[in-house]
This record gives sequence, C-alpha cells and structure tokens, in this order.
Amino acid sequence: MSDETTSEKLTELAKRRGYFFQSSGAYGGVGGFYTFGPQGAALKGNLEDAWRERFALGEGNMEIDAPTIMPEPVFEASGHLAGFDDMLIECPECGTSTRADHLVEDNTDYEDAESLPIPEVEAVVAEYELACPECGAGLAGVAIEEFNLMFATSIGPGDSQPGYLRPETAQGIFVEFPRLKEYARNTLPFGVTQIGRAYRNEISPRRSIIRTREFTQAELELFVDPADDDPDLSAVADVPLTLYPASEQGADGSHLETTVGEAVADEVITDPWIAYFLGVSRTWYERVGVDMDRFRYRQHLAGERAHYAADCWDAESEIDGNWIEIAGFAHRGDYDLSKHGEHADERFTVFQQYDEPRTVERAVVDPEMSYLGPTFGGDAGAVVAALEELAETDPEAFDAETVTVAVGDDDHEIPVEQTGFALEEQTEAGEHVTPHVVEPSFGVDRTLYTVLHHAYSEDEVDGEERTYLALEPTVAPTFVGVFPLQRDDDLETEANTIAATLRERGLSVTYDSAGNIGRRYRRQDEVGTPFCVTVDYESLEDEAVTVRERDSTAQKRLPISDLAETFTALRSGSLSFDELEG
Ligand code: GLY
Repeated sequence: MSDETTSEKLTELAKRRGYFFQSSGAYGGVGGFYTFGPQGAALKGNLEDAWRERFALGEGNMEIDAPTIMPEPVFEASGHLAGFDDMLIECPECGTSTRADHLVEDNTDYEDAESLPIPEVEAVVAEYELACPECGAGLAGVAIEEFNLMFATSIGPGDSQPGYLRPETAQGIFVEFPRLKEYARNTLPFGVTQIGRAYRNEISPRRSIIRTREFTQAELELFVDPADDDPDLSAVADVPLTLYPASEQGADGSHLETTVGEAVADEVITDPWIAYFLGVSRTWYERVGVDMDRFRYRQHLAGERAHYAADCWDAESEIDGNWIEIAGFAHRGDYDLSKHGEHADERFTVFQQYDEPRTVERAVVDPEMSYLGPTFGGDAGAVVAALEELAETDPEAFDAETVTVAVGDDDHEIPVEQTGFALEEQTEAGEHVTPHVVEPSFGVDRTLYTVLHHAYSEDEVDGEERTYLALEPTVAPTFVGVFPLQRDDDLETEANTIAATLRERGLSVTYDSAGNIGRRYRRQDEVGTPFCVTVDYESLEDEAVTVRERDSTAQKRLPISDLAETFTALRSGSLSFDELEG
C-alpha cells in the first residue's frame, strides 16, 4: 500500500468516482468552492435526510427554509458586522494573505491560537520568526489585522441597500422569531431547524471540503424558558461520551471516558440541554458511519468562544492524526433574541402565562403635559418615554425633589411633582420572557468528509488489492448494483426488471453490464455500494440471485421475490446481512 495519506487518496477517489471536486475547473478553479458530483450529492442528501429525521422530526421541531442573502441591519444586530473576524497577516514581499492563527498552529506547539488576543499572536510570530508560507519572507513585526468573513453584496440597483450572504443559517431562524413563536403557539420550549448554505470568505480555504467558502449547515435553534425548561435526560443518560473538557486542554491533557448521566452529575457538562444533544448526536454520528474511536467532544476555551456563546462544545473527528470540528453545541443565552429585539420593530419575547395571576407593585408615571409641553416643546414626548423607562428601571430616583432624564445629548431636570409618579398594585396574568437559545450546529460537508474518510478501507481480495468505502447502508449514495452475469438478452431483461422493481421501492440502484464481474464489483466497492445482485443463468430457472455484501465479499442466494423487502430492511438497519438465510 502507498505512503499517501488517506486524505490524499480520498481526494483522488472523490474526483474519479463523482463524490466532489473543485468547482469551475474549466476556468482554473477558485479556492474554497467545491461541486458535489452524483455520488457526493446523493450522500449529502442522505446525510441531510438522516439529520432531518433525527433532529427535526425525531424531536418534534419545525423546519424552515430562509433566504441566504439578508440585509445589513440583521448583521448589525447579530454582531457579525462588528465581530465576525479572522486574523489576517499579509506578506509585505509577495502580498499573500494568511490566517495568522493557522500560521502559528502549523509551525509551533500552540494548539488554539484563535483564542489568543492579536498582540499575543504578533508576539508569537516574532518569537518563532515565522515566515510567509508562499515566499518564505519573515513576518516578524508585520501587523495582524481583523478581516470580516462575510461576503458583501448589494440588494437591487445601486449600493443603497447593502446585504450579506449569511455566515450561519441560524440568523434566518432568529429574525423570523416573532412569527415562528406564533406557529409554536407561544409555548416554550420549541425548536426550529434549517438545512442550507452559509458563506464565509475564508482567508485561506484549505484541506479539501473541510474549510470552504460556501458550505452547508444543519442547525437547530431550541428556544427554552431560562427559568423552567430542562430536558429529560433519561433517554440519553447511558450514552457513552469521550470528552475533552477545557480543564484538560493543556500539555498533558487527556480524554475523559464517561456517560451523559455521569458528565452531568460530575458537572463536567454544566448545561443539561448541551448534555442532551451531545448524547443524541453521538448516537446519530455512529448511525451514519462516524468511527466512534476517532470521535470526541471538545469544550471551547473561554477565549475561543464565538461572540454569542456562553458555553460551547465541539464534536470533533480525527482525520489523518488531526482533530477537525464537525459540529458545535453552543448555549447562546438570550444574546440573539435580545439583540434583534433591540434593533428590530417587533417583539422577540414570548408571553408566559402564570399558573395564577399575580399582584405586583409597579412604579408608573402620569406626567403633567401642561407643564412638559411648554417646558420641553418638541422633546416632550421623548421626555415622557424616558420618565416611563426610569420609573421601571430605577423607581428610587423619584424619591428626590427632581429627576433628570437624557433626551439625545440633553439632560432635562423635571420636578417629581410634575411626573405623576406613583406605586400602583397591578394584577398580571404573565410576563414577557426572552427565551434562551441552545444550538446544535452541524457542518454537513465536514460530516460527509468524515464519513468518507472513516469509511475508506483497503484490503486484499483473491490476491488483489482492493479499495472500498465501508459506508453505512442507510446513507450510501448507491445502495445496490444490479448486474447480468454477462451480456445476454434474457439475463439483461431479468436484471433490468429487478433494477426497476428496486427503484420503485425508492432504492438507489445502478445497473452495470460492462466488463467482467470482478471488475464490476470493484467499481461498486470503490463508491461504497453495500450490495450487488448478480443475475445468472440459474436465476432464469430458480428465480433466485446472488447477493454480495461489500465489506466481507460474502455471497448469499436469495429469491428475487424477496429482494425489495430484504433490501428495504437492510437499508433501514432493521436487518443485517449476517442474519439472512441463503
Ligand atoms: N451557528 C453557529 C455557527 O455557524 O458556527
């Protein structure tokens, strides 16, 4: 077997067999954009379906489909305009832009330079005398800049309405919260999912489809009542977890083998919703073919967390000795809904009814307009609004002879007797609550890459080297290959009939009559087709065919009339090939 890494071999196989390849190759290609070929698009669709089945339908959540371009105010509110940056260092000699944190990670022992402040990264670049990866010029002393990752565009003619390609699908959910909460009948908790494209203008896209500029996310935003909602952990309590908590991420840090229940009891995972989703997701990843010996959850270090996240764990998979992030599980608190509530015209809260109406004391004002009008003129309305807010937030301010409120740049002093300040008893049926957000966010492309990488296998069959993708039947893009043993009208008619019957059952079938049967098997092994059916002359007599399983290459003789049902069960995972008589 060759010295190439699995990633290198996979890249070649992916292109040759129609999984993925760099886009626009006829025009030289452009970094960070990939096209999924027929196998890749089908695998991606199957992974998305499996995700939808578990995280939307399986949890009783609602799925939406929002636009990928959104207007600037959305990203002013979300914080992405001000804070969605990477560290850029530009070579003074050749002009190549490099991500400074990656330069540091690739050339020093620092594992997580992204979490360091810029001056520290500049100091590391100088200390280690790091050089431009393109031309080798020294970068010590070169200033590192913050580079915003959003792709900008203009909506409509001219440039009066800037827009951005969304950097995360999540914002498409948050901005629609005022309507979505109505569909959820104002009842917390409720979850909304979205599977769609997101865009980040990466400084240096790299490592195949792992870091691209256009990618697909599958995100779930769960809106919970911060005072009330806790998940039932019983269904996931025994799920095993390999954790890499922040406290372990030093020189000699090690993984912690535990379970969801123990991790919560030991307060390694402090938020029960995050614990719940780590458990659900671990089971899901295993089902779609991620190797659990090459999988862990890593807690973010404090400096590494996104601007919105209170706590965050990543799902990581091992790829050729490196760990890559394939999902993030963030507690976003009330950050997003509060920000949109401040910037937008609608309420981003849910009215929560109390069990019993409550009597509360409220500070109110009833300002004397015959005083405010003549005194403040055009500012009078704003003064009233400021007095109302002050009564709500700082009623003790009204204990003095006068109160002062700011309107624009001016401070206005008002005698308290003109404000109509009073403490009133009010009966309230409930309150407006800003829900907190728990977010499992999956990278679909990286999941797909991991599934392929972990499935990539080599062995020897009949003295010949073989490459095969040990993909799970439930996500394999082609489920079954149907072959006539050789080119013969009767065999081909029978094989075509079988292929049509299986397609009618929704199975993905490839029909191949070209070349010797061994070569046809190898072709299907390489694309990861779990089963092949061969129609031979005996089939015309006994109405049975040879079914071959990819990984073991074992063969069984099965009646043609059972094939559709058997394959449907094999695909769903309710039956295994070993269990089949034949
Ligand atoms: N919504 C989380 C992320 O895009 O990383």
